[in-house]
Amino acid sequence: MDLDVTHPALSDLRRRARRRMPHFAFEYLDSGTGRETGIHHNRARLDAVRFMPAILRGDLQPDLTRATLGTTYPQPFGVAPLGMAGLLWPDAERILAAACAHHRMPYGQSTVAAATPEDTGTIAGDMGWFQHYPVNDAGIRRDMLARIKAAGWKTLVVTVDVPGESRRERQRRAHVSMPPVMTPKIIASILSCPTWAMGILKHGQPTMKFPNSYAPAAKGAEAFTHAGRLIRGFPDDAYISALRAEWDGPLIVKGVAEPADADRLIGLGVDAIWVSNHSGRQFEGGPAAIDCLPPVAETVAGRVPVYFCSGVTGGLDILRALALGADFVFLGKAWYFALAAFGRAGVDHLVHILRADMVSNMTQIGAATLDDLPGRLIR
Ligand SMILES: Cc1cc2nc3c(=O)[nH]c(=O)nc-3n(C[C@H](O)[C@H](O)[C@H](O)COP(=O)(O)O)c2cc1C
Repeated sequence: MDLDVTHPALSDLRRRARRRMPHFAFEYLDSGTGRETGIHHNRARLDAVRFMPAILRGDLQPDLTRATLGTTYPQPFGVAPLGMAGLLWPDAERILAAACAHHRMPYGQSTVAAATPEDTGTIAGDMGWFQHYPVNDAGIRRDMLARIKAAGWKTLVVTVDVPGESRRERQRRAHVSMPPVMTPKIIASILSCPTWAMGILKHGQPTMKFPNSYAPAAKGAEAFTHAGRLIRGFPDDAYISALRAEWDGPLIVKGVAEPADADRLIGLGVDAIWVSNHSGRQFEGGPAAIDCLPPVAETVAGRVPVYFCSGVTGGLDILRALALGADFVFLGKAWYFALAAFGRAGVDHLVHILRADMVSNMTQIGAATLDDLPGRLIR
């Protein structure tokens, strides 16, 4: 059966993923924090970005290519880093790294993924973007950076919008813990998802392997729960300067919302600014991520590229962000819905959905290239 008929949209993949993932894993993926108004606000404000449709443009053949940081990509979107990806779907890191190498999309891997930089560096190749969470020890940081580089990663993304832990009540209700505490409810939900369960049996229990390797004192469940926390740092401008001095490849700062921060970060020598609100997982009382984009892009004024994520669910959203000043757009949850729904074939299908949706909407908008998009925005 043709997936484009049975599952033409991300919402179809999400629905199937929900059936194939244990409840706690789905809740970990899908939830925001608090009453989740952050998620809804991101959605509502994206929907408010409208384009004027165009007529009499002849046979438009939209071109989706986009160059950024010295690489040309066949499409302007990539995979945002997700912690514990291998818990969401067994072996997710390797599958997504390979898919990204194949489709030529940036592959973001989290510090707190279930795979180390060495596990996936050669698979992702030049598409690998490693995400760094600040650590509290300069020696650990330098060792991490050396390992990331030696494993072949050229691009570093440092995430700065997690100043502390958020409540994420939905995750608490679903007993999300690492590793899962085997209550009868959790066991039942695992047993109801045999493909996921068999995958975990095959690939082993996911752990935060990379931070764990720096927290040897803590063991077992305790180490697992706390490894990331044990070595967590609380970054400031000096931390970014240190990273800049220690990382000689592209350095991107993820989680920027304010123009003044973007301006200062450029002064500190970063190579790109990534506007994000962590998809409403950290704080629900702030602005929608898409509303932060135009002022940041205006202040950055082309000095470095600007990237965007948070709430993107289709090709039209990608066009919206590009029109408002993003050079490149990332999706997080979407790739994991696709993966849980159909494995690697789901990821390939999502690339198809996003590309087809972009082409279709660009044709309606009368945009032959991505650079034509701002001119068609209804201001
Ligand atoms: C389950 C989950 C785990 C995440 N873990 C990380 C992480 O470890 N590091 C990070 O920089 N961002 C993390 N994020 C945020 C994503 O990188 C990204 O900003 C966000 O998911 C984009 O929004 P979207 O999912 O609506 O596309 C995580 C997001 C989710 C959903």
